[in-house]
Parts: sequence; C-alpha cells; structure tokens
Amino acid sequence: MKKRVGIEALAVAVPSRYVDIEDLARARGVDPAKFTSGLGAKEMAVTDPGEDTVALAATAAARLLKQQDVDPSRIGMLVVGTETGIDHSKPVASHVQGLLKLPRTMRTYDTQHACYGGTAGLMAAVEWIASGAGAGKVAVVVCSDIARYGLNTAGEPTQGGGAVALLVSEQPDLLAMDVGLNGVCTMDVYDFWRPVGRREALVDGHYSINCYLEALSGAYRGWREKAVAAGLVRWSGTMPGEQLARIAYHVPFCKMARKAHAQLRLCDLEDAVGPGPGTPEARDEVAKSQASYDTQVASSLGLNARIGNVYTASLYLALAGLLQREGAQLAGQRIGLLSYGSGCMAEFYSGTVGEKAAERMARADLASVLAKRERVSIEEYERLMKLASDAPEPVAPAPGAFRLTEIREHKRVYAEGT
Ligand code: CAA
Repeated sequence: MKKRVGIEALAVAVPSRYVDIEDLARARGVDPAKFTSGLGAKEMAVTDPGEDTVALAATAAARLLKQQDVDPSRIGMLVVGTETGIDHSKPVASHVQGLLKLPRTMRTYDTQHACYGGTAGLMAAVEWIASGAGAGKVAVVVCSDIARYGLNTAGEPTQGGGAVALLVSEQPDLLAMDVGLNGVCTMDVYDFWRPVGRREALVDGHYSINCYLEALSGAYRGWREKAVAAGLVRWSGTMPGEQLARIAYHVPFCKMARKAHAQLRLCDLEDAVGPGPGTPEARDEVAKSQASYDTQVASSLGLNARIGNVYTASLYLALAGLLQREGAQLAGQRIGLLSYGSGCMAEFYSGTVGEKAAERMARADLASVLAKRERVSIEEYERLMKLASDAPEPVAPAPGAFRLTEIREHKRVYAEGT
C-alpha cells in the first residue's frame, strides 16, 4: 500500500503590529473601498527590523513544536522557504536549527523561488518521506517572509509579513496529499523581482496578475489530466474543478483568489466537450459565478485579509484559515491548492482533509495569535518602515517569540522572550 504522507499540523507567527487598511487608504487619499472591496484587504501586518525573516520563522517553528508536542529527535529535515532571506550564504534554516536547539542529525536548507519557495520545500519533504528516504523521520517546512513594496507605491496596501510552520509526516492529520498528481507550469518572466541589495520588491503589478493566471491555467490543467486518469474527478455531471470541496490559492491580496478561481473555472469551461455556454461572454459569466466563489473559496481568506501578503506563506495562511473555520466539516473531503511564485512557477495539487484537522487547528490557537497584535497609526507604520534594517530597536521579545537584537561583525544575534 502507498504511504499516506502530508501535513500533520501547522503553526502561525505574525508580527506584533498591524495597521487598519482603511487608515492607510485615508492617509494616501484613496477611497477606502478600493483597498477593502477592490483588493479585499482589512488589515496589514507591519514588521520592524527586530522581526526579521529568521525571527518569524523561529517563532513559528518553536510554536509548532510546543503546541503539537513534537519530539525534536523525530525531525530529519528542516526547510525554510523564503524570498526575503538575510544572507547570501547562511540559510535561515540554520538559524532556526540553532535557536530552537534542534538535533544536529537533520538536513537543513532554504528554498527560493519567489512565493513558490515554501511549496518547493513542502514537496521536497513530502517526496522525501513518500520515497522512504526519510526512514520514519518527520520534516518541518517553514514559510517565512516580509512583503515590502515601500511607502506610496501601488503595492503598498498588499504588504504584510509572518510565517507558517508545517509538520510533514506519515500521519497527515491536516491534509493527506495526492502524491504524484501535481500539475506544474513555469515561464521566464519579469513580473515581480528584487535585485540583490534592494529591500523593496519591484513589480509590474497588472502584468504579474496575468502571469499568475496563465501559470495557474497550465498547472491546473496538468493536475486535472492526472486526476481524471486516477479517477479522482470526472468530466461528467459537474466540472472537474467543482468536484473539489474547496480550493485554496496563493493570496497576494484577497481579490486575487477571486480572479484565480474564475480562471480555473474558465479552464474547465474551455476544455469541456459537449454543449456549454455558447459565447465567450457567457463563459466568462459562468466562470465568475459568485455562488461557486462563496462555496469553494471565500472561507479560506479570513487570515489573509487580516495579515496581508506573506509571499511563501500566503497559500498556507489560506489553508490555515480554511481549516480553522471548516476543519471538522471538511474531514474526509478532497481540496485543491494552487501555489504561485513570480518569475514564475505555479503548482496545483490536491489532498484529503484529515479526521483530526479540527483538533490540530484548535491547538494552533490562531485567534489568540492574532488577538495579541497591536494596531498602530499610519505615522508609526511609516516610522517603522524607515528604520534601517540592521539596527533593531531594543524591544523585549514577547514570551515564546524571537527577535533580532543586533548585528555584530556581520553576525545576527537573536533573543527569545521568556
Ligand atoms: N471602490 C471599489 N473598487 C475599486 C475602487 C473603488 N473606489 N477603485 C478601484 N477599485 C478596484 C479596481 O476596479 C480593481 O479591481 P479589479 O482588479 O477587479 O478590476 C482593484 O480595485 C484594484 O485597482 P487597480 O487595479 O486600479 O489598483 P492598482 O493599479 O493601484 O494596484 C495591484 C493593484 C496591481 C494589485 C497592486 O497593488 C500591486 O502591484 N500589488 C503587488 C503585486 C501583486 O500582488 N501581484 C499579484 C500577482 S503576483 C503574485 O501573486 C506574487 C506575489 O505574491 C507578489
């Protein structure tokens, strides 16, 4: 029998501060409805230099081990997916291993391909376990990022930050993956990038949306072909995409998930044999079905709307938000997931929600993770954004959280809150 492999549990870490998105709109002289209804945002996480990618990753990983009672000696692999790493050579994963005092007997490395980097790490971990190479050990995959476009840019309301740590094992209490059915699509494009030495990303915003949708189409069609052959979905009755109970998307801003879902439906409508909506306009109308979006997508976006973009972690925030709300109801049902990284790369995969999903998510206690944040003014947000990245303010870390305290001789020093 094939091994069951997938995500056993997860934990989330978020920056200690956020701004209300309507405050940001008013400060920029923009109609708040553009950010709330046009982009789908409510709040946006704000980091300071002490809350860097390492600090967020270590906080999420430490929380995962504590909340889910993981014996560190079981971990054979620790991967950090990030596009906001802190060194050209030393990986974030090595910091996490040291800060958490994890055993030396594990593989540690970072994976990078824009927002896809976390999924690259997850797939490496899943395939490592499924192949038997893991020899019974589990893997921890951490997606940690700080989305930063800069003040007064079009991307500003789509910033954010945080980390999601995933425990990957042969006990997939959250999501048992359909190993081997993944669909992938890659294209060499400049839609979003961050040249070495730059703190802020460069982005061709509207083009990046088109790249996302085109790559999604390729990845989804790749998955669908294999899923139909494996008998997981069918070209009869409802469309194949509609046979997934829910679909979680990469969420750079919440409205993107709506666009993505319409595109996925369009792929099914275009490829269906037999009578369908006659004209392209009629097809578009069916693709954009509000009822389908409400059923399959809307319930996954609660965390994303309150945190903003977290690059590699955004898809996994959507998964966390979905299982937090509907873990019990979805137990035993198949869901789809779409990962996108600019540059670009998309991967569509599926899995079955585990019977213990609700219990695992209760332990992750996401409501209290968000409740501990402080709302700050736009003046304070702008002050934090202007701080030099190598000069963290002397703030004591919260209990269980890590912070960068100083950089001494080009070496980063962290403290853990007690
Ligand atoms: N009331 C309600 N809605 C309004 C409105 C108002 N007063 N004014 C505008 N809107 C709507 C617009 O109609 C539009 O909706 P649709 O897309 O459905 O038409 C939406 O608000 C946004 O308006 P604009 O397109 O005019 O906004 P913009 O040009 O200022 O910027 C953006 C939008 C391009 C997404 C920009 O925020 C950006 O560049 N973000 C970063 C890039 C990004 O997130 N790209 C996503 C794909 S790439 C990716 O996924 C990787 C990654 O993580 C970065």
